[in-house]
Amino acid sequence: TGPALFGARGNSKGWDLTDAVDLAAIEAARGPHEARLFEAGPMVAGRPVGGLRREVRNPATGALVGHVVDAGVPDVETALRLAEPWAAAAAERAAVLKRAADLYEAEFGAIFALLAREAGKTLADAVGELREAVDFLRYYAAGAEGVKAPARGVFTCISPWNFPLAIFTGQIAAALAAGNAVLAKPAEQTPLVAALAVELLRQAGVPATALQLLPGDGAVVGRALTSDARVAGVAFTGSTETALAIRRAMAEHMDPTAPLIAETGGLNAMLVDSTALPEQAVRDVLASAFQSAGQRCSALRCLYVQEDVAGAVEEMLFGAMDDLAPGDPWDLATDVGPVIDAEAQAGIAAYVAKARAEGRVLKEMPAPEGCFIGPVVIRVGGIADLPGEIFGPVLHVARFAASEIDAVIDAVNATGYGLTFGLHTRIDDRVQRIVERLRVGNTYVNRNQIGAVVGSQPFGGEGLSGTGPKAGGPHYLARFTAVAGEAGAA
Ligand code: NAD
Ligand code: ALA
Repeated sequence: TGPALFGARGNSKGWDLTDAVDLAAIEAARGPHEARLFEAGPMVAGRPVGGLRREVRNPATGALVGHVVDAGVPDVETALRLAEPWAAAAAERAAVLKRAADLYEAEFGAIFALLAREAGKTLADAVGELREAVDFLRYYAAGAEGVKAPARGVFTCISPWNFPLAIFTGQIAAALAAGNAVLAKPAEQTPLVAALAVELLRQAGVPATALQLLPGDGAVVGRALTSDARVAGVAFTGSTETALAIRRAMAEHMDPTAPLIAETGGLNAMLVDSTALPEQAVRDVLASAFQSAGQRCSALRCLYVQEDVAGAVEEMLFGAMDDLAPGDPWDLATDVGPVIDAEAQAGIAAYVAKARAEGRVLKEMPAPEGCFIGPVVIRVGGIADLPGEIFGPVLHVARFAASEIDAVIDAVNATGYGLTFGLHTRIDDRVQRIVERLRVGNTYVNRNQIGAVVGSQPFGGEGLSGTGPKAGGPHYLARFTAVAGEAGAA
């Protein structure tokens, strides 16, 4: 127990939450961080710089988690002036990134505590997230020695709050593995875990001028980091809307050959036909729609159930939802944590209220006090009825006839998004036909559609869902080099 060993495929083994010894180790390690106040701020060439200090609060309880000093545009300017690509040999870069992976695992207590308190992550989600961060570090470290082309220079890495450790780390690890300098901007909501990650990367040996941290407002700091000719490339994960704003800023201010690697939103569907095993489908719908309070780009938004079995599957789903426990993610019994902040909660609640007034809410769980939305199911005619990505525990359900499968897939493609798709069927020919017709990045058959594993399931979408190459896959590192295509597979 304690810091994880390697799994069979080279991925982090993680922690087994059904094992009393692992659970006791987690409780002991995160205990001292339950009330600790964390601090974060810009780190420019290894030195903290000034700015406005603001509070970071727990979305479930409202309690203070710590403070962050936000960077301003002058700090971006200084960081750009001092940034130096990481000149060390690839083998040394790889060794440092692997050391960082070990340090992340050793710090599991502080990391699990912060993921719960700052980002509202349940322990199961926190374990998955730390594993993914560690996997990214080791996977890109393994790829570093295959990188033959030179680094591009200075890379801006901008990440979202919903994977504040894994995605923040994955972008940085790839850019550093290829030998670039990184200017990292975490989401406004989750700077504390990002600051801890940078501290661990620095402890592992990443030079201060190769990794600088610039927390702050997206429209100000993020904008400055994507509007400067000295930036050679941008790795961005977040909403499709922000990716488009970044694309425009880059076009105006940066070298036209500078890459934008964008991983964005999704409008993800699952199709359950009459040959599916209902118990399995329901279990996978619950995980896909409600785990992480639905705050995954990969999450299921629109479930299509074949009309012959729809009544039975829906009834089983609503029954299973009664067992979901929303609550404070610090509590081990919690299944569904909060949404990220009051603004997100208000937006989702207004959407659900409208559906309720229209008589389309089929099932709704009560929500505790705090930034919570009770898991909810809403009837729709099809995916075209969704107004966009509702980023919370909101599942839409539609029915289809056996003759309509091609039309369902065409409707999914017509959204313009293409991230994940779930398929429950026992008909092999149908799997083949659907996969050939679909335009999405990751399709999952007879399982849930979240939680892609680095190295085994490269993750990324098509169309409005992202530019590629897929994260955690063999083509990702090449995009961070000056001559794409010359990086070896990891
Ligand atoms: P967001 O787009 O609001 O913010 C993401 C980041 O961009 C933040 O750091 C923010 O400060 C920054 N930003 C905002 N405006 C900017 C600007 N004008 N210039 C530069 N940077 C700017 O997204 P979010 O709400 O933090 O995250 C949720 C979204 O992320 C969802 O749409 C989700 O689907 C998507 N997401 C996608 C993936 C994926 O792999 N495809 C993974 C996780 C999240
Ligand atoms: N990579 C994350 C998942 O697959 C977003 O759920």
